[in-house]
Amino acid sequence: MIRKDVASLRVPPNLADHDAERRTFTWAAARAHLDGLPGGGLNIAHEAVHRHAHGPLADHVAFRFLGGEAPRDVTYSELSSLSNRFACVLRGLGIGRGDRLFVLTGRIPELYTAVLGGLTNGTVVSPLFAAFGPEPIATRLTLGSAAVLVTTTSQYRRKIARIRADVPTLRHVLVVDDDGSGPIPGTLELGPVMAEASDDVALAATGPEEMALLHFTSGTTGRPKGAIHVHEAAVTHWSTGRFALDLHPDDVFWCTADPGWVTGTSYGIIAPLLHGVTSIVDAGDFDARRWYGVLAEHRVSVWYTAPTAIRMLMKAGPELAHAHSYPALRFIASVGEPLNPSAVWWGAEVLGLPIHDNYWQTETGGIMIANTPALDIKPGSMGKPLPGVEAAIVRRDANGEVRIVDAPDEEGILALRRGWPSMMRGYLDDEERYRACFAGDWYLTGDLATRDADGWFWFVGRADDVIKSAGHLIGPFEVESALMEHPAVAEAGVIGKPDELVGEVVKAFVLLREGFTPGEALRLEILAHARRRLGAAVAPKEVEFVDTLPRTRSGKIMRRLLKARELGLAEGDTSTLESGG
Ligand code: PRX
Repeated sequence: MIRKDVASLRVPPNLADHDAERRTFTWAAARAHLDGLPGGGLNIAHEAVHRHAHGPLADHVAFRFLGGEAPRDVTYSELSSLSNRFACVLRGLGIGRGDRLFVLTGRIPELYTAVLGGLTNGTVVSPLFAAFGPEPIATRLTLGSAAVLVTTTSQYRRKIARIRADVPTLRHVLVVDDDGSGPIPGTLELGPVMAEASDDVALAATGPEEMALLHFTSGTTGRPKGAIHVHEAAVTHWSTGRFALDLHPDDVFWCTADPGWVTGTSYGIIAPLLHGVTSIVDAGDFDARRWYGVLAEHRVSVWYTAPTAIRMLMKAGPELAHAHSYPALRFIASVGEPLNPSAVWWGAEVLGLPIHDNYWQTETGGIMIANTPALDIKPGSMGKPLPGVEAAIVRRDANGEVRIVDAPDEEGILALRRGWPSMMRGYLDDEERYRACFAGDWYLTGDLATRDADGWFWFVGRADDVIKSAGHLIGPFEVESALMEHPAVAEAGVIGKPDELVGEVVKAFVLLREGFTPGEALRLEILAHARRRLGAAVAPKEVEFVDTLPRTRSGKIMRRLLKARELGLAEGDTSTLESGG
């Protein structure tokens, strides 16, 4: 246990007494910290940017972009103006409220302008991960009925050109020339159209329940699910920014997540802007030496990162960390996958600050369970439910009824009582899968966890076959489908193979078609095929040829059995494995 002494914290935390605040907190009171719009409306871009642009924060830096030749600071008033210009561009193209805007770029300023400009225009925004290959991109553009896409010339030439015809709803593509390759027929260059656009546009008077963001996530089977988030979600972003990330007005905040995943949007864009703080955006990939440099040089005070990154820093050795000092750093949080207790201690020893684990999902839109600054840390625990969040461990009884498990330390499904503002409002065009997530008032996360006698929650594992690699959620079905498009592959079963550094790596078991013989050349060819189609973020790292794949009686591949075999575990009672597959 790491004991906290609130009086000794350098900055008094926003949440001085976690349990006491939980008793008095109301979402209505949190909502009162936002402006809202006349007539009961709410618009995330107004709350995050435009209201600050006309107040004392107008000249405060909203984003410091790193990765170009020199850092580029964008103030709240500049960000507001750029977002308005982008909204004007959309309007000029006939893109309006409810239309779908997708963004596929690295972490460049245009991504942030497009997201905020889209929201300003009442357009639904869906950021995609730039390391996706053409196949996951095409799937998401299609499912989301993309009307407009913002991307770069290099992404366009490598991925979009070959799939564009498959997405008939896609009316416009705006490109940022990132490789000097010049105009591409059928696209508009973003720079020149932004230069011509006016920044005097009326904010879309969106309602709180109007769709704002679409985040795709993966399940065990079938196509990716588009989690629908509404403008009201900003209330959770505000309160979790306050309580779980402890944002204070002078903070320099660094969320290392990419906006192509939900953390990078909720906490890489919205929450810090709602609080009017300065955020660091680093376009580069992980690099231990550079990351320490960023923390020190830019005087990051609150840092939100992920277990894989922390493990990589641990591996790089303490000397690199000690090459700098971090007098501004006062709070470190982590999310997305289990955080090893040793990583919590490593933070305390090497950086002088323990790492605060927190838990949430694409579906929950914001942080639900957290180790907050004043709360003692039990390393290995995700913390306690935040103010406004009620969590429980539940199990289905013999009749299929969901029952709350009251006894401490009993494993069950982690459930959250509906009612927080950033809960998804549905899976796009998939009412059935959405409904299956609920039992009465309880949203079932699909994660297995325990709660101890003191009310701390502990992650046990996922109840399904979804893979978590470097914090990124990967659906095995999407990978299997891409593998099966290779002419040699008859069938494939894909699992997450435990890995010390990235949590799990994607491993595929492949059954070849008649006439193909296993061999190194074919293995490499299949790996390359998957990488081309799926992109580095999703493609398997390992392919193993097998003679048979274990199946249920109904023919479904039993991934859990593959995993048990991979781990050398007892295969257990296969009749129960059948229903889990
Ligand atoms: O399995 C849990 C794991 O990540 C899943 C959610 O992933 P995603 O929808 O991509 O959302 C990412 C934003 C957090 C969860 O269902 N997960 C998340 N946080 C933790 C975690 N597993 C263990 N410990 C955590 N703190």
